Amino acid sequence: MASRSAIRFLRRGQVVSLENVPPMRTVLDYLRLEEKSRGTKEGCNEGDCGACTVTLGSLRDGNVVYEPVNACILLMGQIDGKELVTVDDLAEDGTLHPVQKAMVDLHGSQCGFCTPGFIMSLFALYHSGKAPTRQDIVDQIAGNLCRCTGYRPIVDAAARACSGTALDRWARAADETARKLAKLQDGTDLFCGSADSFIARPASADSLCSLAASNPEAAIVAGATDVGLWITKQMRELPRIILVGGVEELHRISDKQGRLSIGAAATYAEAQAQLEGLHPDIGEVLRRIGSRQVRASGTVGGNIANGSPIGDMPPMLIALDATLHLRHGSDVRSLPLESFFVGYGKQDRKPGELVWRIDVPKLAADQVFRAYKISKRFDQDISAVMAAFRFTLDGRRVMQARVALGGMAATPKRGPRAEAMLQGVSLDDPPSWDRAISALAEDFQPISDMRASADYRMNVAQGLLGKALIEIAGADAGTTRILKPLSEPA
Ligand SMILES: Cc1cc2nc3c(=O)[nH]c(=O)nc-3n(C[C@H](O)[C@H](O)[C@H](O)COP(=O)(O)OP(=O)(O)OC[C@H]3O[C@@H](n4cnc5c(N)ncnc54)[C@H](O)[C@@H]3O)c2cc1C
Ligand code: FES
Ligand code: FES
Repeated sequence: MASRSAIRFLRRGQVVSLENVPPMRTVLDYLRLEEKSRGTKEGCNEGDCGACTVTLGSLRDGNVVYEPVNACILLMGQIDGKELVTVDDLAEDGTLHPVQKAMVDLHGSQCGFCTPGFIMSLFALYHSGKAPTRQDIVDQIAGNLCRCTGYRPIVDAAARACSGTALDRWARAADETARKLAKLQDGTDLFCGSADSFIARPASADSLCSLAASNPEAAIVAGATDVGLWITKQMRELPRIILVGGVEELHRISDKQGRLSIGAAATYAEAQAQLEGLHPDIGEVLRRIGSRQVRASGTVGGNIANGSPIGDMPPMLIALDATLHLRHGSDVRSLPLESFFVGYGKQDRKPGELVWRIDVPKLAADQVFRAYKISKRFDQDISAVMAAFRFTLDGRRVMQARVALGGMAATPKRGPRAEAMLQGVSLDDPPSWDRAISALAEDFQPISDMRASADYRMNVAQGLLGKALIEIAGADAGTTRILKPLSEPA
C-alpha cells in the first residue's frame, strides 16, 4: 500500500500538508503555537470545558458533516483527511457569522473566554441541517462551560441563528469542499516520523494490523478522549502512535441477522442512531456520555479497550450478551465481552492486538432491557454506578436474567448470584425479588472513592435492580413496598 509522510487536511479552502509533526502534537497547540490562530482558547486541557472547541468537517456518504471536537485532546494525525474550521475563520470581510452576530445581539458573552468554544459548537449546530429544539441546543452546548454569562442568552442566540438552513460560505462551498475532501481520501497510509517516533494512520485493515503487530509497544489510539489526557495531564511520553480511525471497515455499523455489528473506530456519534434503536435507555445513556465533542471523537471500541471499571458502554453491552472480536496480524479471535475484562487495568488483549468489532444481539420478542447511569452531575460526568439488565420472560415470569454493573468492582462485571435468584421469579410477586436484590451484596464489593461511597454504590445498585423490575412489572403489580429501603422491615 502506498504511504505518505505528510499529514494533510483542509483549512480555509486550501490543503495543508505538514511533515515531521511530533506524534503527540495536539490540534490546540498547533493552532495557538504554530499557526498562531489564537481565537481558540485553552481552559482545562482535558476535554471538559469546551473552550478549545473547533469544528471538523468530514466526508460521510458524499456530504460534508461538521462536528465540534475538543482541540486540546485531539492529535494532529486525527485531522488527516478532514476540514479544520476555527473561530478565527468565521467572520467574512468584517461581517460576523450569523452565530456570532446572534451571540452579540443577545448578549451571550461577558468575559468572552468560553465564547469561541460556544461559537464553534453552535457553528456545528448551524450546519446540522435541522431546526434545533431547545433540548437539541442544550445537548449541543453541554460540553461548553460558561462561568459568567449564564446559559439563557446563549440558548436564545442558538435558537435565533440556527434555523436548519445554512447560508454561510461553508454552505455555498459544500460541493467543492466535498470534492476536495474526497481527493484526500486516496487510500494512502499516513506514516509521519521515523521508526522510533511516529504517528501513523493506516488506511487499510491489513496495513493497520501489520503495523500494530510489528510495533507492540505503540499506543493504539481511536478518538484520544482517554489517551489525550495521558498526554496533557499525566505527561506521558508516547513516541509511537497508531491511529485506527483511517480504516473505513472499522467505522462500519451493520444491522443484520438479529445483531448489530459495530466497528472499533465507530464514534458514539456515528453509532448513536443504531445503538438507540436497540433500546431507548441506551440512547438516554449515550446522550450523557461526555459531551457532543467527546461523542464526536470517542469510540465504542475505545470505551471497551480502555478496560475502565466505570465506562458506560460495557455494562450495557455485557447485559445484551455482546461478543468482542479482536485481531492480531491476520489472526482473528472472538470472546464474550465480559471475559475481556480480566482485572483492574488488565484485559485479555496481547500487545499489538486490536479491538476490531463488537457484535450485539438485538432484543428478542420475549426479552426486556433497562439501563441506568448514575452520576453526580446529569451532563458530562463519569458514572458512579452504571447498571444494565436484560430479562428473558415467559409471560410474567423471569426465565433468565443478565445483570451487569459498572462502578461496583475492578471491572465491569455480571452478578451471577443475583441472576440465579432472578430465575423463575414472578413479576407479580415483588417480595420474591428481594433475594435477588440482596444477592447483589454477595456479587459485588464496591469501593469508596471521590465519586461515591461503597454503601451508596450498593444501595443504588440494589435500588436500580428494583426499579428495573418495577418498570417492567408495571404500575399495577403491587410494587410499592419494594421502594422501601431494604434495611427496613417489610
Ligand atoms: C470530558 C470527558 C468526558 C467523558 N465522559 C465519559 C462518560 O460519560 N462515560 C464514559 O464511559 N467515558 C467517558 N469519557 C471517557 C472516554 O471518552 C471514553 O472512554 C471513550 O469511549 C474512549 O474512546 P476513544 O476512542 O477516545 O479512546 P482512546 O482514548 O483513543 O483510547 C482509549 C484506550 O483504548 C485503547 N484503544 C482504543 N482503540 C483501540 C483498538 N481498536 N484496539 C485496541 N486498543 C484500543 C487505547 O490504547 C487506550 O488504552 C470521557 C472523557 C472525557 C475527556
Ligand atoms: S481546554 Fe477545556 S476542553 Fe479543551
Ligand atoms: S463569558 Fe466568561 S466564561 Fe463565559
